[in-house]
Amino acid sequence: MKTATIRMKVNGDWRRAEVRSGDTLLEALRGRLGVHSPKEGCGRGDCGACTVLLDGRAVRSCLVLAVEADGREVTTVEGVGGGKMHAVQEECIARNVFQCGFCAPGMILAAAALLAKNPAPTAKEVREALAGNLCRCTGYEPIVEAVLAAAKRMGGGRDEATKDAKFAKGKKGGGKK
Ligand code: FES
Ligand code: FES
Repeated sequence: MKTATIRMKVNGDWRRAEVRSGDTLLEALRGRLGVHSPKEGCGRGDCGACTVLLDGRAVRSCLVLAVEADGREVTTVEGVGGGKMHAVQEECIARNVFQCGFCAPGMILAAAALLAKNPAPTAKEVREALAGNLCRCTGYEPIVEAVLAAAKRMGGGRDEATKDAKFAKGKKGGGKK
């Protein structure tokens, strides 16, 4: 199979990787560059575990060819806070929202991408933004509440959003995405 050398700015540092034409961005990150935070769950775009930011946009790295990322900026959970922890990470840790943690990198990146374009999302908008990220452990509502709290801490957020989350939790028992 044909190979190529690509360059990607990964979490602020330019990195080179030798990839095959059919390699995915996920394979390049994990297999060539040793960046293991993006997880391989389904490998076909269904679970969101492999989510990374490509030029700031949340993408499923199992569906992106590595060569498509050549010359572009890739952010994983290690770099999403720009040298410190992102508010979403801090709120998730403070609230102990994750259990096994397999979904955590993808969830955090999807949430960070949402807050970058919508600093004051409603609970419904958070749920929609995270809808493609599956979690087997949490029931989702603790994650939604952590994202809303992060929005408030970052200067966005809204009281209605928090109320909406509480209302939904009471109504649905927190089990639905
Ligand atoms: Fe990419 Fe599941 S591993 S979406
Ligand atoms: Fe286990 Fe989300 S914390 S899959």
